[in-house]
Amino acid sequence: MRLTTNHHLYGEIMPRIWPIISGYAALAAVTVNAQTPRESRLTSARASQVADSILRLMTLEEKIGQLNQLPGMGTQTGPRVPEGGEALVRSGGVGSFLGIFGVEYTRELQRIAIRESRLKIPLLFANDIIHGFRTIYPVSIAEAASFDSARVEASARLSAVEATAHGLHWTFAPMVDIARDPRWGRIVEGAGEDPWLGSVMAAARVRGFQGGDHGLGLGAPDAMLATAKHFAAYGGAEGGRDYNSVELTERTLWETYLPPYEAAVKAGAATVMSSFNDIGGIPAHSSEWLLGDVLRARWGFKGAVVSDWGGIGELIPHRVAANKRDAGILALRAGVDIDMSDAVYADNMAAAVRAGQIPIALIDSSVRRMLRLKYALGLFDDPFRFNDVARERRYTLAPEHLAAARIAAREGIVLLKNANKTLPLRKNLRTIAVIGPLADDARAALGGWAADGRPEEAISVLAGIRAALGPSTRIIQVRGAPVDTADTSGFAGARSAASEADAVVLVIGEREDMTGEASNRASIELPGSQRDLALAVIRAARQSPGGENKPLVAVLMNGRPLAVPELAREAPALVESWFLGNQHGTAVADVLFGDYNPGGKLPVTFPRATGQIPIYYNHRSTGRPPDSANHYTSKYLDLPWTPLFPFGYGLSYTTFAYTNLRASAATIRARDSLVVSVDVRNSGDRAGDEVVQLYIRDDVASVAEPVKALKGFRRITLQPGETRTVTFRIGPDALALYDRRMRRVVEPGSFTLFAGTSSDDVLTARFEVTGDTLVLAPPTPRFR
Ligand code: NOJ
Repeated sequence: MRLTTNHHLYGEIMPRIWPIISGYAALAAVTVNAQTPRESRLTSARASQVADSILRLMTLEEKIGQLNQLPGMGTQTGPRVPEGGEALVRSGGVGSFLGIFGVEYTRELQRIAIRESRLKIPLLFANDIIHGFRTIYPVSIAEAASFDSARVEASARLSAVEATAHGLHWTFAPMVDIARDPRWGRIVEGAGEDPWLGSVMAAARVRGFQGGDHGLGLGAPDAMLATAKHFAAYGGAEGGRDYNSVELTERTLWETYLPPYEAAVKAGAATVMSSFNDIGGIPAHSSEWLLGDVLRARWGFKGAVVSDWGGIGELIPHRVAANKRDAGILALRAGVDIDMSDAVYADNMAAAVRAGQIPIALIDSSVRRMLRLKYALGLFDDPFRFNDVARERRYTLAPEHLAAARIAAREGIVLLKNANKTLPLRKNLRTIAVIGPLADDARAALGGWAADGRPEEAISVLAGIRAALGPSTRIIQVRGAPVDTADTSGFAGARSAASEADAVVLVIGEREDMTGEASNRASIELPGSQRDLALAVIRAARQSPGGENKPLVAVLMNGRPLAVPELAREAPALVESWFLGNQHGTAVADVLFGDYNPGGKLPVTFPRATGQIPIYYNHRSTGRPPDSANHYTSKYLDLPWTPLFPFGYGLSYTTFAYTNLRASAATIRARDSLVVSVDVRNSGDRAGDEVVQLYIRDDVASVAEPVKALKGFRRITLQPGETRTVTFRIGPDALALYDRRMRRVVEPGSFTLFAGTSSDDVLTARFEVTGDTLVLAPPTPRFR
């Protein structure tokens, strides 16, 4: 039989099979709409019924097969199953694949599962869709810099539309790990250092991928399962070394690291990935506390937990398991449902069950969760609903996706310095020098984890500048230095280009492979000879005829904060462009030439030097806060204690004036809310975006609390002269802390409000909480 329409095939086969398999009888009535409106397909009773009816028919090996996730392998014609993969599908030995996509090929594998395996259970296809599939949006740290959660949700939505059109059901995103150490390469994949911002972005991404809140969008053919990862505190790796141990107090874990995972779970994330690290000696893949007490019991998570790649087997080098069988038993008992990539479950768990080491009920719960995922996606109705060639064609690099990628890219750019209105540059330049090793690097522009993104479809800074300027401007392009070696042989050419041109754009920083998994750096200064290149170019530009007024801008490309004090001092203008995806160069050119007024803000502190790490704005006060007049206070002999650029910082081509910060009440009870307002005026001469930020401090509490903590933000656009009153509703959740018993409470007393343009440039106001302490949640489960 030839496969023509997807639905047709399933419709033809299933009626013949279902009556034979009695347990499937219940399935025949299942339709996509068979749930109450407030109930997601994942959590519905129907999903459980369907899962149970299938479970009853399964052999032990088939059950364990569902928990087995295999990686695809790259070939010239795209990703393919590894040797023996198809046979495994036939025998029911695999439940999902990772890294395999493409409508035709996933349809063929699905066909094998549906037609040639005994139970006809559809497969799941998963992949890392981190910031786009083929259309690539800004890396997550750059999207966080937009402080625009609607935009972030839209990028995730469109990523899902494109990815599902290529046969994918499941993404391993969002990555919601808080990172306070920029040496850690994976800081690029998250939303930075702040738990509030991280939580807002986590929820936005989950909604975007899954097509709505609380998993309610699942079941549509363009919605995909989201994964909150890496649970937990993966960003706390000691020394910034990926995979390293994490040493945290329970308080910091609950206050700072856990909130974004919780936000993702509350937004309905269908899956959670356990993290490679241990916390205080307990590897996450074996942590009954994390996966059981916290995730399922405290937060009510109903989805499935997937291991990280080989994470179960790594319980052996962690030295908490002697062999794979023990590793599998530990992970399964802890609550890891799905084994990614190393077949520890597939090879060992049947024997462990038969030997009485694992109760079959434990396997059954994990299988049930896996089947519910498949039900949630509607694959029991039509296993080929993600295999529509017309959709694949329609959505690959669709014009509306590229347009959205350009908007997202513009919004992520942060203007760090603009002395004497160096920017925007005029377009009618005679010559412009574009200098630096990253200027023509389209691969770097895409950023890491770029799925099926292709450098030839990405716009480098040089290409963006070229497209923005008319033919009468001559562009002199010189690399000047490699990204990460000490070579200075290109300096002379760079200097002469800088002298000759009317304006200079320096494009420096890191390649995309210098952040991301396992890409940590012991020093976060500019790599190679780039700092010296930049200083040489700046000097040459300054000393050339008319040099004092020659516009020069340094554009940074990087996935982590960089310590660039000399550059910040010497360059007249400095722009943080991160890795912005397909539209990188277009968006940068939009900003450089004033077609777009930048409004992004830093989602993470930029240190002056590596030695300041960890440095973050929401630190505790200490008993001796830094005081330059007092030697015996908390600071350095050889560096200021302040950062180079603080959290929330970012300039605009216009200016904003803040006035009149006020609260709707001077006193409230702990259970009440109040409205905080501030007037923001565009005091400059052009329209622009401002991210209005609200921070709160509990002035005196039972435990030492942060000096301030972000509790609200809003990105607004103001015309010149326009004033807007921005309001935030503040309720118990924003005032709560973990007290000495680790209860979540609102304590009476004085609170300070801070509102402004950056974490260190704020107006302040006060209010008082009166009456009794309000207990929002009982003590957190004890770490074990
Ligand atoms: C390992 C990474 O830690 C994780 O983030 C990713 O999702 C998996 N590999 C699958 O690629």
